[in-house]
Amino acid sequence: MSWRSFPKIELHLHHEGAAPPAFIRGLAQEKSVNLAGVFAEDGSYAFRDFAHFLQVYEAATSVLKTPDDYARLTLAVLEQSAEQGVIYCESFLSPDFCGGRDLGAWREYLAAIREAAARAEAQMGITLRGIVTCIRHFGPDKARETALCAAETAGDWIVGFGMGGDETRGKQGDFAWAFDCAREAGLKLTTHAGEFGGPASVAQALDDLRVDRIGHGVRAIEDPALVDRLAATGTVLEVCPLSNIALGLYPQMRAHPVERLRAAGVRVTINTDDPPFFHTSMTREFDALERAFDWDEGVFDQLVHNALDAAFCDDATRGKLAKRLAGDADSA
Ligand code: HPA
Ligand code: ZN
Repeated sequence: MSWRSFPKIELHLHHEGAAPPAFIRGLAQEKSVNLAGVFAEDGSYAFRDFAHFLQVYEAATSVLKTPDDYARLTLAVLEQSAEQGVIYCESFLSPDFCGGRDLGAWREYLAAIREAAARAEAQMGITLRGIVTCIRHFGPDKARETALCAAETAGDWIVGFGMGGDETRGKQGDFAWAFDCAREAGLKLTTHAGEFGGPASVAQALDDLRVDRIGHGVRAIEDPALVDRLAATGTVLEVCPLSNIALGLYPQMRAHPVERLRAAGVRVTINTDDPPFFHTSMTREFDALERAFDWDEGVFDQLVHNALDAAFCDDATRGKLAKRLAGDADSA
């Protein structure tokens, strides 16, 4: 069977990384931007490895130049997610790309994104919330500026602060000021760890940044004591299985640690990361997990509820989503 119509919640999605390639190509044509090297012959995004992925990502993102471009992107992304049965998602938004970390510009981008999200919610029944994200390879000074943008716009829509980018550069603790600033503004926290960094990077994220969730975190499996810690503390992992396979962490789904983490009592959630880059969607993730691990509806239901519980939204929104998961059509 296909899990397409099963209601889903996604917590780890990079806004630009979800851009359909045709959308980026169309904008590049409109603006006469040369995107040589970004696309393969079949029209999909082309990259060799993680470092090259980040370069191609930033090249593709360079065509998104105005708040209106982000409004159009938001509609395209939410339409794509709604088609996969997603009823709620949190996406990573970067003031670095939206106005170069200038607060006034960031507010304009954010207003355009929120307006588009409200339209998508009315038309397609999908709810979006934003996680402001600093970019690790841009360094701690830029992360501070990004955190200040996050703190100034924290509220019922910008609900979290996170960090993406090249996990092999610097240490989590180098970004403590930015995460402290965001926490003081009331934001929930997540950071990429345990993807290209080993298990120590997961422990550092917990100890040095005091995050609420971990982006990926799958390499915790290499340290049994850390797996016990994650289970005991109820730390939620935003696992992105097909992204990990596309980037070569694991050769195939059966070798992916998500099932061992789940069996050890770690609260895992399922996510797509950058779906067109990794040729995935929430439905494809679910279908591939069912094939590899023979998971039944009870397992998928538990994973979606893990995501509901770990969502950074307010409790009123969580309550409405809970009703939709329970099949109460009136709450849509
Ligand atoms: N990982 C880390 N950083 C990123 C990603 C990702 O998948 N996408 C965009 N920035
Ligand atoms: Zn990611």
